[in-house]
Amino acid sequence: MKISVIGAGNVGATCADVIAHRELCNEVILLDIKENFAEGKALDMWQTAPVNNYDTRITGVTNDYERTKDSDVVVITSGLPRKPGMSRDDLIATNANIVKSVTENVVKYSPNTTIIVVANPLDVMTYCAYLNANLPSTKVFGMAGILDTARYKAFLATELNINPKDIQGMLLGGHGDTMVPLPRYTTVSGIPVTELIAEDKLNAILERTKVGGGEIVKLLGTSAWYAPGAAAAQMAESIVRNQRRLFPVCAWLTGEYGLKDIYLGVPTILGTNGIEKIIELKLNDAEMKLLHDSAKAVKEVMDVLDNMGK
Ligand code: NAI
Ligand code: 2OP
Repeated sequence: MKISVIGAGNVGATCADVIAHRELCNEVILLDIKENFAEGKALDMWQTAPVNNYDTRITGVTNDYERTKDSDVVVITSGLPRKPGMSRDDLIATNANIVKSVTENVVKYSPNTTIIVVANPLDVMTYCAYLNANLPSTKVFGMAGILDTARYKAFLATELNINPKDIQGMLLGGHGDTMVPLPRYTTVSGIPVTELIAEDKLNAILERTKVGGGEIVKLLGTSAWYAPGAAAAQMAESIVRNQRRLFPVCAWLTGEYGLKDIYLGVPTILGTNGIEKIIELKLNDAEMKLLHDSAKAVKEVMDVLDNMGK
């Protein structure tokens, strides 16, 4: 089993590190365009193997796609991160150029791979990869929902002073301020969260989750990496180990939820074949309206990409 991670920056390096620690494959290739950058990071990571007792081999390369040949999964993190005051959509032109060329290079050497996109604006960069990959949509999808639900669960665990492992939750929609939290589907070990927390406190957590990425950008001056890197690795794990885990994933819709020809966050089952199934929840009218509002916002940016001819 082989996994390649494109972009050895904050998210890519963290993702490669988590993949190696969990021994998800025999070989991880970390690729960056910056001379010697991936090589240096991979060497440092590999030197943690004897300390942390794992044997997944990590190799760093500068733009050498031949070394990614026959990857089972490729995680695309290459792209600029958000700076303070920047929206994810500001990144579109620069990152579309990067994602297009990276995708073309990736599929040249791994024509049957599964691609997990992380670069922002996430839903639209996933669309960009799909347009250029010549792969079925079940094999090209994006990471955002696991990160957004992780933030939601972490805030709840802090507020309730409970173990985050016991929290189940689901968020839908685009990766941005229009994401759709679903408190109706949030439980703590099977108990509806609404029985454990006051409505105003829950609403405050939902609002904080929607701007969770921006909160980190304000604190750090760049976007998050520990949780995003771990989230992308968790998707890769479900695929390479055929775990069939149910995660919110940015997936291509063909009529589900009354939406088609759009990439949007929905619950999916991830296994060997990529997206094995999209789950259609029975949303109420208010939830469905929020999802369609989110779809409209994503579609507007997809149209920008279409007009750029990427
Ligand atoms: P970073 O700046 O630390 O790393 C990006 C890396 O990509 C750099 O090392 C750069 O040299 C490399 N790169 C640029 N062009 C390349 C190319 N053509 N080929 C190969 N490598 C190339 O940025 P960071 O923090 O790792 O974020 C990466 C992307 O992920 C950003 O677009 C960011 O907005 C996005 N992101 C998405 C999240 C999500 O939930 N989907 C969460 C966090 C970040
Ligand atoms: C995040 O949510 C910026 O998309 C990035 O952290």
